[in-house]
Amino acid sequence: MCGIVGYIGNKDAYPILINGLKRLEYRGYDSAGIALIDNNKAQVYKKQGKVSELEKETATKKITGNIGIGHTRWATHGLPNDINAHPHMSMNGKFIVIHNGIIENYARLQKKLCDRGYSFTSETDTEILANTIEYIYLKGKVSAELAVRLALTKIIGAYGLVVICIDEPNQLIAARNGSPLVIGVGEKEYFIASDATPIIEHTNRIIYLNDKEIAVVTKNELSLKTITNDALIPMIQELNLDIEEIEKGGYDHFMLKEIYEQPKSINDTFRGRASQNPPEIYLGGLYNVFDKLDEAERIIIVACGTSWHAGLVGEYLIEEFARIPVEVEYASEFRYRNPIISKNDVIIAVSQSGETADTIAAVKMARELGATVIGICNVVGSSLTRETEAGVYTHAGPEIGVASTKAFSAQVTVLTMISLLLGKRRKKLSEKTYTTLIKELYKIPDKITQLLSQNETYKHVASLYKDATNCIYLGRGVLFPVALEGALKLKEISYIHAEGYPAAEMKHGPIALIDENMPVVIIATKDHSYEKVVSNIQEVKARKGIIIAVVNEGDTTIAKLADHVLEVPETLPELAPLTTIIPLQLFSYYIAVMRGCNVDQPRNLAKSVTVE
Ligand code: AGP
Ligand code: GLU
Repeated sequence: MCGIVGYIGNKDAYPILINGLKRLEYRGYDSAGIALIDNNKAQVYKKQGKVSELEKETATKKITGNIGIGHTRWATHGLPNDINAHPHMSMNGKFIVIHNGIIENYARLQKKLCDRGYSFTSETDTEILANTIEYIYLKGKVSAELAVRLALTKIIGAYGLVVICIDEPNQLIAARNGSPLVIGVGEKEYFIASDATPIIEHTNRIIYLNDKEIAVVTKNELSLKTITNDALIPMIQELNLDIEEIEKGGYDHFMLKEIYEQPKSINDTFRGRASQNPPEIYLGGLYNVFDKLDEAERIIIVACGTSWHAGLVGEYLIEEFARIPVEVEYASEFRYRNPIISKNDVIIAVSQSGETADTIAAVKMARELGATVIGICNVVGSSLTRETEAGVYTHAGPEIGVASTKAFSAQVTVLTMISLLLGKRRKKLSEKTYTTLIKELYKIPDKITQLLSQNETYKHVASLYKDATNCIYLGRGVLFPVALEGALKLKEISYIHAEGYPAAEMKHGPIALIDENMPVVIIATKDHSYEKVVSNIQEVKARKGIIIAVVNEGDTTIAKLADHVLEVPETLPELAPLTTIIPLQLFSYYIAVMRGCNVDQPRNLAKSVTVE
């Protein structure tokens, strides 16, 4: 994600852009930049860090103009620094571009441009887009709008973008595909932004761009068409939302918004990396360590909290598909217990923030001991990514809610892809299984979308147990980590004590806790241990425990035994963590809301534990 703003009218653009970017900082804050046009002269300022850093940089400058664009970045390609900050100018200075999204075929486009004499200053995919537009504009001697449209037909990936052409300085060109863009309609002025947050204080008349649409905006008019040049009639809506609601996309909390973003964040995480035809996994960030991965005699996954749970899922999948021994370690334990590490070990560090002190320390120690270290992280350029030799970014976008949700499912998606890649490279995975799993992975976002529509069920069950004092979560195999994650979600946002256990392990002690006041959440989707889980349910029932079972749609066997069933669409057992976690996230969320807890910022917690 990132924040995009644009203004064209009769007012000074600078304060509108800066204030607009501040409103959008929740969407990303790696760097910020603005570009204004006055008397056909471009003024471009950009700075790593928050908008306040840009403001310091520009406060003393004489910046003029009634037309401009601004961007606050959430890096996906290229470190957060001044050079990679947007706006990006094309090589000959004809175009200035700000962009939200990922250009998946950037490498191919860059090569074509280099062959045509283009050079680049940044590491971003966006600069390649700017130069593609310019190349078409100069070579084809076409209008700026046509150059943008033609360039976008060559793009594979997501974009929300705004473009200024130096030769046509009295207009802004905006286009979207996959990343949001809205246009505010004022009196002889227009506002463009990633969402209505920066616009609502100026006008509540909003046009929402749809995918593959392009708008050309001057001070006096707006023309809307499709990328393929079909004219459209803009639909102006009156927006009656307050600022805070808009930042959360209309959701009550960032956590709920991020739960609902999971179809998109999972899709963004595997798009461009898992292809169906031919069935293939491309993880470019691991190319330089493929030899180490091929020779690895052991994989050690280090992480904390939710990321540790994702690591446990990874353990099951990597051992199943690649037949490599895997250990999963709490980073805080691993770093202090003088572990035995060899040069044939590969360490996988999993971290949403990339700033967790224990995980970073564990990585540093492992490298000193000669291990190969790779990272799975959600924040480009974070400390962890500078300590690892290679890695795979989750493309979940900023996760603002302290309780991790979309980062977990994105991490599991990456670990699933890694396990398939390793299994294929080691010839431990049949072509059929490989192909079947990739095809099913593509179906997961839609299955989650279907799940999310059942939230009334989760809300109802949550209302029955919001006053519970304890709760046990049970799962077997690759669903045991899901039980742990479900328990963590409940305890960290509702402050109800909850424990996750392997379902069979319940008999070795925890069963003493079971009585008519103990809700037991059991994940019981169909897999090789299903019958065993049914037996565990019977054991709980025999002690009058309350059974809340996560089951496959239409499971009548468990429906007869459980007090409540939360149904999930059928999927392959190895991918079930991605579907079964959704009801548990929402169950916890609704309980916390009903208990009046601060869902986005639970007591005692921080989004990133940068202390030991
Ligand atoms: C998860 O909901 C918590 N916020 C916490 O356990 C978190 O997963 C842990 O602190 C690790 O953070 P990281 O993924 O940023 O390293
Ligand atoms: N992919 C672009 C970059 O990394 C845009 C990222 C964003 O959406 O902020 O700069």
